[in-house]
Amino acid sequence: MKIKPPIILAVDTPELDTAKAWVECTSEFTSAYKLGLEFFLRHGAQGVRQMQNATDADLFLDLKLHDIPNTVTQAALQVADLSPRFLTVHASGGSAMIQGAVKSAPLSIITAVTVLTSLSEIDWVEIGFAQDTGKSAVALAQMSVKSGAKAIVCSPLEIGAISEAIPAHILIITPGVRPKQDGAKDDQNRTMTPKEAIDAGADLLVIGRPITQLWETGPEAMRERAKAIAGELS
Ligand code: C5P
Repeated sequence: MKIKPPIILAVDTPELDTAKAWVECTSEFTSAYKLGLEFFLRHGAQGVRQMQNATDADLFLDLKLHDIPNTVTQAALQVADLSPRFLTVHASGGSAMIQGAVKSAPLSIITAVTVLTSLSEIDWVEIGFAQDTGKSAVALAQMSVKSGAKAIVCSPLEIGAISEAIPAHILIITPGVRPKQDGAKDDQNRTMTPKEAIDAGADLLVIGRPITQLWETGPEAMRERAKAIAGELS
């Protein structure tokens, strides 16, 4: 069996047809596609089903649930029948909240987002966290795993410390990667190249704009960019 490249395509568009086209033209070089708030708030579960009917690829449903345990338990229940392979929650919602999501969506890998990769150290202090982003991410990851999360989302810079602190079977997923040929960091602050992130111990990479911005040039250019990044990882 051919193992697919460890790339999750961030399908950050509210347009259903565009989302389908992005997944179709990159699916050979990706393991899963990620639908987030932008898509979900526009199309809801019905739109997700249309995506699932259009592709066999695994779904990473990035709703980053974050509320009191009862609300997240109920919210996770509403999307559980979509059976996304991954469903995200914010780790900072706490242990009971994560346990609620795990209970409600038993067929999905509950994936806890530690510290958003867009946040700088200054942003983190401004929000009011006492520890630095690195220490906070490790503590959030440990608590999430104890609460039943089977995957952790963290910045590439935190992969090393987190992988030492949690069991090896827990997946480490990292967004905020930027290929060398892509000078722009966009709104990501704590980045590495895809190859550096995999070498550091990431199991899967979430990659959006470095691939999807090529859509303006055309599907072939987008496909070639996905292929080039996948090639760097093989
Ligand atoms: O376009 P880019 O590659 O920056 O997209 C990164 C994706 O990963 C976005 O969809 C964003 O929501 C998501 N993400 C992130 N940082 C996290 C968790 C998820 O950037 N900590």
